[in-house]
Amino acid sequence: MKKPNNESVSTNKKRETFSSGLAVFFATLGSAVGLGNIWKFPYLVGENGGGAFVLIYFLSILLVGMPVMVSEFYIGRKSRSNAVSAFTKLKANPKWKIIGYFGVAAAFLIMFYYSAVAGWVYSYVFKAINGAFSNLSNFSFEQATNIVENQFLTTTESLYSPIIWQGISILVVALILIGGVKNGIERITKTLMPVLFVLLVISCIRALTLPGAKAGFNFLFKIDFSKINPSVILSALGLAFFKLSLGMGTMITYGSYFTEDNNLIHTSAKVALSDTFVSLLAGIAIFPVVFTFGMRPNSGPSLLFNTIPLVFSHIPFGNLLIIAFFILASIAATTASLSMAEVPIAFITEKWNIKRKYSVIIVSLSTFIVGALTVHSSSIFGHVTILGKNFFDLFDYISSNIILPVGGLLIAIFVGYFVSKDSVLDELSNNNKLSNSKTITIYYFVLKYISPLLLLIVFLNSLGII
Ligand code: PFF
Repeated sequence: MKKPNNESVSTNKKRETFSSGLAVFFATLGSAVGLGNIWKFPYLVGENGGGAFVLIYFLSILLVGMPVMVSEFYIGRKSRSNAVSAFTKLKANPKWKIIGYFGVAAAFLIMFYYSAVAGWVYSYVFKAINGAFSNLSNFSFEQATNIVENQFLTTTESLYSPIIWQGISILVVALILIGGVKNGIERITKTLMPVLFVLLVISCIRALTLPGAKAGFNFLFKIDFSKINPSVILSALGLAFFKLSLGMGTMITYGSYFTEDNNLIHTSAKVALSDTFVSLLAGIAIFPVVFTFGMRPNSGPSLLFNTIPLVFSHIPFGNLLIIAFFILASIAATTASLSMAEVPIAFITEKWNIKRKYSVIIVSLSTFIVGALTVHSSSIFGHVTILGKNFFDLFDYISSNIILPVGGLLIAIFVGYFVSKDSVLDELSNNNKLSNSKTITIYYFVLKYISPLLLLIVFLNSLGII
């Protein structure tokens, strides 16, 4: 996550802003790109039938994600305030603060399981360094598959180690948030994001030379319309919100640090495009392996961990590439976690009027304690199910498929119907300094009539009402 580092030109003299347009782009991308791209996107594509899900995901990004993102930027930059007080600053009915409260709840629910997966990723760096995957090329495809699958089971099902790794991932985020070494993080993100990108491209090239490349590619891009059903649509929509860190106030907070000359619509388009591109690269790297090694595409959260070691298994410097991949994945997970944790931390600090350090400790400790439920959700707590879901799936479902889209719906309705059109037009054209009136007209139309309607239909449909 990036920290603003010069004074705002807004009326509020004390509030800081990002230093430049590029800084804004990287900060926002740092929040968006994370485990969602390389872990969640591929496994949800696998579970929801491939290309049809990808198509619905694209449409969700375009028709709902981007308009909501621009709206969050609008609320943030106009109010120059955190996600809860922003609504008061915009002189809205205080009831709108519910969006901020929803955001805090969603942030906690996501952190509970995100930190567990970040812990697995961290532990894979050390597994690879210790040579756990160094001689996969000596084995047959079937044996190699068994080895990686067993590695995943030992990582996730042993009693203490996943909890310790989860604790480490939470600690790293807490130390960064307390220590305020965000300048360092800023530089790390800026240099390492492109390296992650290059590594993904290498993985894709390698994956496309495997015998299962065609089957993998077809799975990802061939659209089988019979696979589309209400639950697939809800998952794709939920993923769009999760991916772009929307519906929970993160982008309102970031927008509040944007410079006055930033083009909000351009920024959202660039972030959404780059982020989707990274997810697609991950898909292209992973599905050929699935079909080459005879795995199941719908094997769920283990998909990334079982495929990446195999992508690199038969090529020169393969083990080094596995290590590099998981280091970069850890960094992406960490920068995304920073922006997520910021939502409850900012809220608790202000609400209870305590030092930031203490709210970091409160948030981190509660994430660690409740998060332990997700680490062992399919082993020790495997018998505990609520609404037919274990803790891991439940936290994910409630946050991504319910709270974030509801938050997004409220944000779209707020900006589309409860603030004056002029205010939105002024802010999006930077007080008429940009000549983008056509783009704004399209944005405003989609936000007002299409995004909320689609969100409503998907909800009512998934509740069985229509
Ligand atoms: N966008 C992140 C990812 O795809 O990994 C996850 C995330 C970060 C969600 C920050 C929400 C958030 F506020």
